[in-house]
Amino acid sequence: MGMKVEQVLHMVGGAGESSYATNSRVQEKAIFEAKPMVEEALREVYKTALPESMVVADLGCSSGPNAFHVVLEAIDIVDDQSRRLGRPPPEIMFFLNDLPGNDFNSIFQSLEGYEEKLKEEKRERILPFYVAGVPGSFYGRLFPSRSVHFFHSSFCLMWLSRVPPGVESNTGVPLNKENIYISETSPPAVVESYQEQYQRDFTTFLESRFQELGFGGRMVLSFLGRTSKYAPSGELSQLWGLLAEALNAMVLEGILQREKVDAFNLPFYTPSIEEVKAVIQSVGLFDLDRVHIFKSNWDPFDDSNNDHLYDNFISRKNVAKSIRAVIEPVIARNFGEQILDDLFSRYAKNVARHLLKEKTKYPVFVIALKTKM
Ligand SMILES: C[S@@+](CC[C@H](N)C(=O)[O-])C[C@H]1O[C@@H](n2cnc3c(N)ncnc32)[C@H](O)[C@@H]1O
Repeated sequence: MGMKVEQVLHMVGGAGESSYATNSRVQEKAIFEAKPMVEEALREVYKTALPESMVVADLGCSSGPNAFHVVLEAIDIVDDQSRRLGRPPPEIMFFLNDLPGNDFNSIFQSLEGYEEKLKEEKRERILPFYVAGVPGSFYGRLFPSRSVHFFHSSFCLMWLSRVPPGVESNTGVPLNKENIYISETSPPAVVESYQEQYQRDFTTFLESRFQELGFGGRMVLSFLGRTSKYAPSGELSQLWGLLAEALNAMVLEGILQREKVDAFNLPFYTPSIEEVKAVIQSVGLFDLDRVHIFKSNWDPFDDSNNDHLYDNFISRKNVAKSIRAVIEPVIARNFGEQILDDLFSRYAKNVARHLLKEKTKYPVFVIALKTKM
């Protein structure tokens, strides 16, 4: 998969059983967890710029209810802050960004329903707001200079702009055989290429956003990270390792071709918090205002805060569904749609076996950044 991420990545669209919209509870929890930081940042931005019209962009909004959580939150916060400061209600322009393959139509179709609900809830005063879609990669410029007050991005920045070039040798031989992400068996050169791709991408991201933010501009970004220093033993190496295992089993049974699985790698990377800080520092354009790290269970419906399995049979299904809603289009494109049910039922079994051994969790990093003045 040497191609760019914009040609391959999108979540499962629509609102059906297997869609991202119905299977995004892990991501929804991150939005709620980040809310106090979003609130603080928005209040500060508003106080600094006192805009008559405020511009807020959600990067990697996907489709489904999560995109609207952010919009509704921002309306409430800005409304309240403008009252507290005795200002007239500002207007808000929301830009919802994602890659071109995203199901923007389903967002726009549900917009009216949310507007109606909002009007019922807040009869007296509702800020005038406008919503527009912005297709394109956030690893590059998306907006004119100094045109945005606040950027939000939730559960996106672990996606790279591409599969790192170094996962194939110069002669085109795959170097990360039997793996789809970095693992304990990946050669060090592969691990390095992933790390370098992450550094390049996150640098481009920060530089682009800096150009686009106005005076006093801020961002709140949440994304998957890892707690281990050593990249191949990260939590997401384990999660993707279980999918690689299912693919390899299908090779042994002659269902998939060895070459195809050997050549397949994910454009994905979970950094440690030290790696995140190092890029922010080397770019030098933002101050890291706040960092919040929390852990989320693999099973989206398990809200417990302990190491007990909630129900292995249900959990494996829940995990497989939430991962499938994210990765199905990429898998289908590489290996064909006909393998999907088989692959994800094997994956669910591998997840179940793993969870009995260890209840691994997703580490989620939430960071608040402000532009240096
Ligand atoms: C797991 S979804 C999260 C969606 C939503 N923010 C939420 O919290 O539910 C990740 C989204 O990031 C988008 N994405 C990944 N790389 C991107 C890029 N380079 N530019 C824009 N969007 C990107 C994907 O298309 C996908 O919709």
